[in-house]
Amino acid sequence: MPKIIIAIDGYSSCGKSTTAKQVAARLGYVFIDTGAMYRAVTLFFLQNHVQITSRKSVVEALDKISISFNYNAKTGRNETCLNGLNVEEEIRKLYIANSVSEVSALPEVRKAMVAQQQKMGRKKGIVMDGRDIGTKVFPEAELKIFMTADTFIRAQRRQIELLAKGEMVGLDEIRENIAKRDHIDTTRAESPLRQAEDALLLDTSYMTIDEQVEWVIQLVDQKIASLHRKGHFKEQNV
Ligand code: DC
Repeated sequence: MPKIIIAIDGYSSCGKSTTAKQVAARLGYVFIDTGAMYRAVTLFFLQNHVQITSRKSVVEALDKISISFNYNAKTGRNETCLNGLNVEEEIRKLYIANSVSEVSALPEVRKAMVAQQQKMGRKKGIVMDGRDIGTKVFPEAELKIFMTADTFIRAQRRQIELLAKGEMVGLDEIRENIAKRDHIDTTRAESPLRQAEDALLLDTSYMTIDEQVEWVIQLVDQKIASLHRKGHFKEQNV
């Protein structure tokens, strides 16, 4: 089977990672949650009191960071490791969400993460979700999807997710965090969140995860068939 790169971008709490993970499992592709990488950097910066206003401190700190993903057979999840330590649970907490947009707006941080992400996709067969995958990391991705959803519904989804992890947070606080992150993500100077011209829009407000996954899988099938016809896979020898 020929392999492609699937880039899934969009606002937070639209179901990007959940969809991307299931699409990857169905296709036998690698799934990379790039938001987890920015969250891990944020955790390191907070733990080590890195001054984000000092370029030198940021560059020095980035040099000390190694991010990897370890497959956990028990949960069936790829878990994020920061310098060898499993931080999957910690990086999902609200205090990380409250700082991650500022950290991920730093040019030095973006440069380091994008370089790692591009390496991960070299062999194709990857589903990567984030904010700049179709515009910056893989502008040549064969399939690009841009996800959005109603803000209130996104806040409700995030609240349920946090509750499942034992964090009880009010809807207003979550909505505020989402609105703040949307604002920073879309207005930052470095790779702001925007829909790539060739990305297909998916509004997940009233869709189930299964419907979202099915929608993407059908597009993948159509894309691969069309690329086959155009002789795109001759180099992959398939
Ligand atoms: O997908 P997420 O909510 O876990 O992402 C956390 C933050 O990381 C998000 O607010 C913006 C940032 N991010 C980014 O700037 N670029 C990416 N490719 C992925 C995430």
